[in-house]
Amino acid sequence: MANTIIMEHPLIKHKIGMIRRREVGSKDFRQMIREISMLMCYEATRNLPLADIEIETPICRTTVQEIRGKKLAVVPILRAGLGMVDGMLEMIPAAKVGHIGMFRDETTHEPHEYYFKMPQDIEQRDIFVVDPMLATGGSAVAAINMIKKRGAQKITFMCIIAAPEGLEVLRKAHPDVDIYIGALDEKLNEDKYIVPGLGDAGDRIFGTK
Ligand code: PRP
Ligand code: URA
Repeated sequence: MANTIIMEHPLIKHKIGMIRRREVGSKDFRQMIREISMLMCYEATRNLPLADIEIETPICRTTVQEIRGKKLAVVPILRAGLGMVDGMLEMIPAAKVGHIGMFRDETTHEPHEYYFKMPQDIEQRDIFVVDPMLATGGSAVAAINMIKKRGAQKITFMCIIAAPEGLEVLRKAHPDVDIYIGALDEKLNEDKYIVPGLGDAGDRIFGTK
């Protein structure tokens, strides 16, 4: 079984506390999602392998460490996952980006795919699937199914807020996927929104409601 890691860093907790507030508008919401994504990226890349290399400083030759030839990809689940991409790329600028378009039916809450485009060599890359919200888990499970079908071996899922129900579903469906969570909330309500949550992440990022 892979790891589930819930963020403990005070900066992340503080910023998540801010984006939950009803009165925070799109501009600030987007900015904080970006900052939280950067901080979570720092945690989620903690185990990337390093290699020793020899370099020359202005003073002498020395050995330093650099990330060992890892090919990475960030895959947002549209729309809300897009809000996490810039923060991730700020930390790992050489990563490629794939996109999965997915929306949740308002009545059945089932995910529907409408777009799928991956980097050509996706099967050679370590993939970070990003989506601010893990509610029922349907969207994350479906997205990871699609990426695995394309041959991806190493997948990490990152979300800012998760419901226990969705976490269980995702862990059961994909026990090999490491999961990084900003905050684990209490439950889902009858409309399958996360409680206390932050509302509809896509609408809050893009100002569509
Ligand atoms: C939201 C969110 C996740 C999904 C989570 O997207 O960004 O993708 O719901 O719910 P689930 O775990 O129950 O599947 P939504 O379908 O609202 O689309 P949007 O990002 O375009 O607003
Ligand atoms: N999608 C969201 O954006 N918010 C929720 O609380 C659940 C699903």
